[in-house]
Amino acid sequence: MKSCIVLLLPVALLLLAGSSPVVAQLVEGYYSKTCPNVEAIVRDEMEKIIAAAPSLAGPLLRLHFHDCFVRGCDASVLLNSTEGSLAEKDAKPNKSLRGFGSVERVKAKLEAGCPNTVSCADVLTIMARDAVVLAKGPFWPVALGRRDGTVSSATEAADQLPPASGDIPQLTKIFASKGLDLKDLVVLSGAHTLGTAHCPSYADRLYNFSSSYTTDPTLDSEYAEKLRTRCKSVDDKAMLSEMDPGSYKTFDTSYYRHVAKRRGLFQSDASLLTDDTTRDYVQRIATGKFDDEFFGDFSESMIKMGNVAVLTGAKGEIRKKCSIVN
Ligand code: HEM
Repeated sequence: MKSCIVLLLPVALLLLAGSSPVVAQLVEGYYSKTCPNVEAIVRDEMEKIIAAAPSLAGPLLRLHFHDCFVRGCDASVLLNSTEGSLAEKDAKPNKSLRGFGSVERVKAKLEAGCPNTVSCADVLTIMARDAVVLAKGPFWPVALGRRDGTVSSATEAADQLPPASGDIPQLTKIFASKGLDLKDLVVLSGAHTLGTAHCPSYADRLYNFSSSYTTDPTLDSEYAEKLRTRCKSVDDKAMLSEMDPGSYKTFDTSYYRHVAKRRGLFQSDASLLTDDTTRDYVQRIATGKFDDEFFGDFSESMIKMGNVAVLTGAKGEIRKKCSIVN
């Protein structure tokens, strides 16, 4: 009987692993024999990158998110388009991604120290974590062993990334399709404590909201007025606004204070006030008394997101350059 259980256990675990998109065989210290200094090498480069351009922390975090939500965290977001095949990075919601050069720079450092060893998907995961740490946010351990995909499709990116206009039912559905729940949604939206957004991502809320309202009635009217002075029309493509005004380079809880005051920039941010669970969370963290709780939650949700549909074992490849397949 005992030996039967021992024999069946791995099978049961495999079946369990197959039932959830977020369970994967990643491990901390995956490169301990093949590239023991991987995290130190990435950290060293990241310190230089963020020291030279602190505003890159947000974009590098967002790159990891956009990677994981399309085909899993397989670095497909980093691939260039090829003849006849438009890649994720050329899809509309990805046109505003930045930081590709920084990823190549870190990858080149790793190739010099440990050739053909560390995947671009792992590089991106570590860089996103370090971006948060260097912006004064939490540290979390990263399990590694992701492999790089060989396919990247603009259509998939356009279909699967959450839109700025998303409401709770739509966002919940998209997150659930990645094995992430409502709590992950409200927690990971806290990433909007970092970075900036282009006017077209929220201009509809100011000028073209619905047949009944020119301006989104859920947006604080004073704030809407202020935004209109920066974002002059729906066609104003160049203008950037801080998503967490006043501390957009620092990872903190002030995003939740803005959202609680109906000053979230996107409809997706504002939607967090329309559901009991997410509203309670926003209001709790907005008090400023639970910063450690948010930091812990964010770390947990980032670990979950970093596990979405990863390629491991013999799947995929270890790309030499992140922008092209081998
Ligand atoms: C909940 C669904 C989400 C929606 C609808 C959404 C949408 C957006 C949009 C429209 C932008 C601005 C793009 C631009 O105009 O330049 C943006 C920026 C950003 N997003 Fe999200 N996002 C979501 C979740 C997340 C998550 C889960 C993360 C990371 C964990 C994240 C991290 C960021 C960061 C850091 C920026 C700023 C990038 C920069 O400074 O260039 N977002 N997001």
